[in-house]
Amino acid sequence: MSELPGTLAEYAQRASEVLSPDTAAYFLGGAGAEVTLAQNRCDLDRVSILPQHLRDLRGGTTSLDLIGQRMAHPIIAAPMAFQTLLHPDGECATAAAVTAQQGHMALSAQASQPMADVIASGPGCVWFQMYWHGNRETTLALAHRAAAAGFKALILTVDAPVNGVRDGEIAAGFSPPEGLGAVNLNGLPHPQFAPLHEGESAIFDRIAHVLPRWDDVAWLCDQSPLPIILKGILTPSDALRGVEAGAAGIIVSNHGGRVLDGAVSSIAALPGVVAAVDGAVPVLMDGGIRRGVDVFRALALGAQAVLVGRPIAHGLAVGGAHGVSHVLRLLRDELEITMALAGCATLADITADRVTHPFGAA
Ligand code: FNR
Repeated sequence: MSELPGTLAEYAQRASEVLSPDTAAYFLGGAGAEVTLAQNRCDLDRVSILPQHLRDLRGGTTSLDLIGQRMAHPIIAAPMAFQTLLHPDGECATAAAVTAQQGHMALSAQASQPMADVIASGPGCVWFQMYWHGNRETTLALAHRAAAAGFKALILTVDAPVNGVRDGEIAAGFSPPEGLGAVNLNGLPHPQFAPLHEGESAIFDRIAHVLPRWDDVAWLCDQSPLPIILKGILTPSDALRGVEAGAAGIIVSNHGGRVLDGAVSSIAALPGVVAAVDGAVPVLMDGGIRRGVDVFRALALGAQAVLVGRPIAHGLAVGGAHGVSHVLRLLRDELEITMALAGCATLADITADRVTHPFGAA
């Protein structure tokens, strides 16, 4: 595949060229003025590595155990909606690619292909991401559907009670094409909205009637057939509430800057969450990871693994399954090179004292 790009930056550039303007706006853009989107990336560059030389690196490995999975590396494909818009092979290609790289992915509730097909394409598809689906009964039914399909854990995304204001999508006129839908939600009852009275806000009405609160999350953690990982946590207090509610993991994330523009960057939020969780459950992070050195930075600040979103989209748009696999290979190689140059033989060696950064722990 000599025609594939050689770097993630080149993949990003090529993706912006091959996608139609409205699809590019949906996948590549962020909310509002894209301040958080940009901050995710540039705050990672504020974490500087303190390399330690002449260490014994024999037996070096990037493997880890995470929430019941043995993983060859800590780079997980983030849940991302409607991947057939990027390539006809869609989520199935992503599953095949992550599996080829001995990796793992989370399938979005808004995936455009059936969960059974995606899992059959690559057993690395181990987590199913879901939103609260209107009420307890329907949300639990979806959890059971995912468990029956063979998923090993569920990600409950909590940071998008309403869509962000995405200027780029509005300007480009993006709307999902006819025939594209969240096929894995078929047959579940639609959330019911109460009729609006005069003067009531539709936004707050939606939140009041069909979105969960902490007691609902605790109930789901208790009832769910699979462990629940909370995605979209940015504060120590929410992380603690998640742990108290029974979450099996916390993903520090601002949804890749697609929801609340102006929200803190993920890497800046990470140390405070890690301190609050204090090892009770694994903490993961996503947002702005574009190089192996970014993975190292996140791990040094206490993440056990990272998720990558747009780089997967770039790989899929440019080269289908080959493209995604190559993107992951580049990230893996860069992580290994960073570890070797920094003097770390294992992920456990990537400790807080290997970096300096300006982000406090609270
Ligand atoms: C997302 N993300 C997302 N998250 C989620 O929980 N469910 C979803 O369906 C989606 N869909 C989605 C679509 C697109 C086009 C993007 C770019 C992102 C967020 C995703 O899981 C992840 O948090 C971010 O993408 C991470 O940031 P980077 O790696 O894209 O910078």
